[in-house]
Amino acid sequence: MARETVIGSAAPVEESTKVDAALRPKLLREVIGQRKVAERLAIAVAASRKLDEPLGHILFDGPPGLGKTTFATVLPNELGTTLQMTSGPALAKPADLLPFLTNLEEGSVLFIDEIHRMPRVVEEFIYPAMEDFRIDIVLGEGVNARTISMQLKRFTLIGATTRGGMLSGPMRDRFKMREHLEYYSVEELAEIVRVNAAKLNTPITGSACLELAKRSRGTPRVANARLHWARIFAAAKSDGSITESIAHTALDMAQVDAEGLDKNDRKYLETLIEVFSGGPTGVEAIGATMNIATDTLTDEIEPYLLREQFIVRTPRGRLAMPKAWLLLGKLVPKPKSDEKPSPNLFE
Ligand SMILES: Nc1ncnc2c1ncn2[C@@H]1O[C@H](COP(=O)(O)OP(=O)(O)O)[C@@H](O)[C@H]1O
Ligand SMILES: [Mg+2]
Repeated sequence: MARETVIGSAAPVEESTKVDAALRPKLLREVIGQRKVAERLAIAVAASRKLDEPLGHILFDGPPGLGKTTFATVLPNELGTTLQMTSGPALAKPADLLPFLTNLEEGSVLFIDEIHRMPRVVEEFIYPAMEDFRIDIVLGEGVNARTISMQLKRFTLIGATTRGGMLSGPMRDRFKMREHLEYYSVEELAEIVRVNAAKLNTPITGSACLELAKRSRGTPRVANARLHWARIFAAAKSDGSITESIAHTALDMAQVDAEGLDKNDRKYLETLIEVFSGGPTGVEAIGATMNIATDTLTDEIEPYLLREQFIVRTPRGRLAMPKAWLLLGKLVPKPKSDEKPSPNLFE
């Protein structure tokens, strides 16, 4: 087993984070779905071993809960090297990076989550580290200022972002591999549920796995949360094993609907349809009305609603699609002819 050095994560550990960590795959072969991504990474790992070179820097992007952190933790395990973890918001100034850079070992991995939130000065400080494994430190001020260069161990930077589009061009270009994670199929999620139920020693039927999977928003983290709830529900209400009907009742009680949408998803659609007559309206207005940060809407709630075509993006804002009106049990209004949906689902 590889050692894992985890430095610099001062955030409180929530229950869901602990469940995530316990169920997170440790090796590439345990990763379910994302086959193409996993195959390319397996090749990169094999090459790195054979050539005795560190893995090239890798960027993962995609909506939350799809496996970015999982891949970042699996890779050092595969390489038998150490992992240091930090995040963009924790790196306010170049000096905040120094402990991580000086702790590097030959071929080890530095993972920066939410890398799009790293300030520009830190980004520029990290460029020579990524390109030449070197950093330039400025000592003193004004006329007395001088720059010293410090050589680093050869390492691999892994970045993760929910906002590929917000990363600067020069930063993006410095990653040798850029992998976009997509939503999972129901079958893949059912497999994840089955494997994780076994890890939790919880008996579950095949049809219950499918029921939980269908109602998981295409997202492994959500599937784990649904499983967690169904497991508790089964223990309290029945003999602890999850059948299809237990899964069904448990999710109904958690206010997850048949499409897998939860309270916030529906509140979004209700706001768009009932307050803004179905749109088009700006995401800021929806956020303000719901009292939810715009970032949460664009990063977590909207990507799935867009993918499933409950909403579309238009030049004038978000527009509810017929599917959304039907979900809320409303008559679908006649489309306004001047609204053209934007084909670009992810900004
Ligand atoms: N491909 C996968 N196979 C199995 N489980 C996965 C996979 N991707 C994610 N998971 C599960 O979902 C949880 C959330 O994934 P994570 O990597 O934290 O997502 P992200 O960093 O993209 O938000 C993980 O702890 C893991 O249990
Ligand atoms: Mg993550």
